[in-house]
Amino acid sequence: MSVIKSKGYNVVIGPGALKAISDFLSGKDYTSYFILCDENTFRHCLPLLITGCPQLGSAHIIEVDSGETTKSLDFCTYIWQTLMDYKADPGSLFINLGGGVVSDLGGFTASVFKRGMDFINIPTSLLAMADASVGGKTAIDFYNVKNSIGTYAQPRGVFVYPFFLNTLPPMHYRNGLAEVFKMALIADKELWNSLKSLRVDSDIDHFLQKSIELKNRIVLKDPFDKGNRKILNFGHTMGHALEALLLETGNELHHGEAVYIGMVLESHISFQKKMLSKK
Ligand code: GLY
Repeated sequence: MSVIKSKGYNVVIGPGALKAISDFLSGKDYTSYFILCDENTFRHCLPLLITGCPQLGSAHIIEVDSGETTKSLDFCTYIWQTLMDYKADPGSLFINLGGGVVSDLGGFTASVFKRGMDFINIPTSLLAMADASVGGKTAIDFYNVKNSIGTYAQPRGVFVYPFFLNTLPPMHYRNGLAEVFKMALIADKELWNSLKSLRVDSDIDHFLQKSIELKNRIVLKDPFDKGNRKILNFGHTMGHALEALLLETGNELHHGEAVYIGMVLESHISFQKKMLSKK
């Protein structure tokens, strides 16, 4: 198991991550627990989480639909109403059990509920493990603009349990790898070279750890995205535009696919600009 120190919290990675959550909870005095999940993580991940952390047996479960359209004000309202109904207070803990949609939406709703309640991220997709769960960005989409309303709010902990990846269809694996490829392209030539011989089954823990370490290093230097952190948006500007365009027509492009296309387009544009400036 490895532990990476981030901005006031630890990112724990490895098979011992569920035990680490249980230890984390035992060391705190939370008044109640709320777990946000979607229909997939409810079915495939929640039972494993509760078995590994018996303290969560009494948690209130908030289930939302999977998919990007859930990152909306309507779902925020639903979550806030549930928190009020079950008398969440500033001593409660909010737990995001899911991919990037769950951690973006849940992180946002928790970060403003009663001026902020503690939350932790338990990412279940490769994309969320490698990128979304670390770094303190939370957001929902508004007016068809992705991530247009959000906060910078640090979780109290991020617990990466790679076994959850076994619950995903292979397509999600390929999509999640987009963020690992991105990290390698922007920050680590050696990682990029070693990715060429990636064997997903056996190597993923190592690549995840490398990718999280690289991201964390960038985030710690620029937590509020004022400078160098923008490099993490490589492939995302074009990718988000494509995603939004498709959403408007009722179609959904997976975030990872959008990032792959975005990286190609943005590299092409920057290459063209360089060539033109040389003329
Ligand atoms: N996902 C990009 C960032 O955290 O800055």
